[in-house]
Amino acid sequence: MNTILAKGLTLAITAIGFYTAIYFTAPPATAAEIVDLPPPVKAMLLQEMQDHIDNLDDIMAALAEGDFTEAATIATIRMTKGHKLWEKMESKGKTIEEIMAKQKSIVGLSRKEMRQKFHGKKDKIAVSQFAPQEFMDMGTEYHNAATAFATDAFKAKKPPTVENYQKAFENIQQMTAMCRVCHDSWDLK
Ligand code: HEC
Repeated sequence: MNTILAKGLTLAITAIGFYTAIYFTAPPATAAEIVDLPPPVKAMLLQEMQDHIDNLDDIMAALAEGDFTEAATIATIRMTKGHKLWEKMESKGKTIEEIMAKQKSIVGLSRKEMRQKFHGKKDKIAVSQFAPQEFMDMGTEYHNAATAFATDAFKAKKPPTVENYQKAFENIQQMTAMCRVCHDSWDLK
């Protein structure tokens, strides 16, 4: 065999061996932490995750039609902090104005205070009762990004301008960044 070829082959084999060893022995660069949830709570979280995809898709559809008010309404009711409550109000026929007035009344309340205020003594089972604070904080950042999106989208011109679209995508990316960060950081047991 030609020596250059032989040297090249040896190098290639060494490289493959080296990277295979790294691949099988090195821990992942950022090890995700485990969130340990009881099965019914886990099922609830995964259902909420599926809803996230539907909500994003519905927002994209509304934006594609140029209907920023609809996109803002979807985000306000289904994605902001306390969304389960807003969804319930919507299903009972409450208007977006009534829902937003109620939202103003919870600004600054903690999760515990919210649960007490809205569910009284029969405390509902919630992810926040089991997941670490850092996990919940990532969820809160996602909800805050949804609020920012809705606030700007409600203010958009009719028809929406290029700047309105740019701002909308910037805000949506803030949301999807949180999906990504949280998925990179946490795994379920
Ligand atoms: C606060 C953390 C957090 C945020 C924010 C978050 N997720 Fe998740 N998501 C999780 C965890 C934890 C899982 C479960 C991963 C596992 O199986 O280990 C998950 C799983 C999922 C799944 C799989 C559901 C299933 O049935 O298996 C989908 C889809 C998903 N997320 C979509 C989203 C989208 C879209 C967003 C953003 C709009 C988002 N998630 C934001 C934590 C988060």
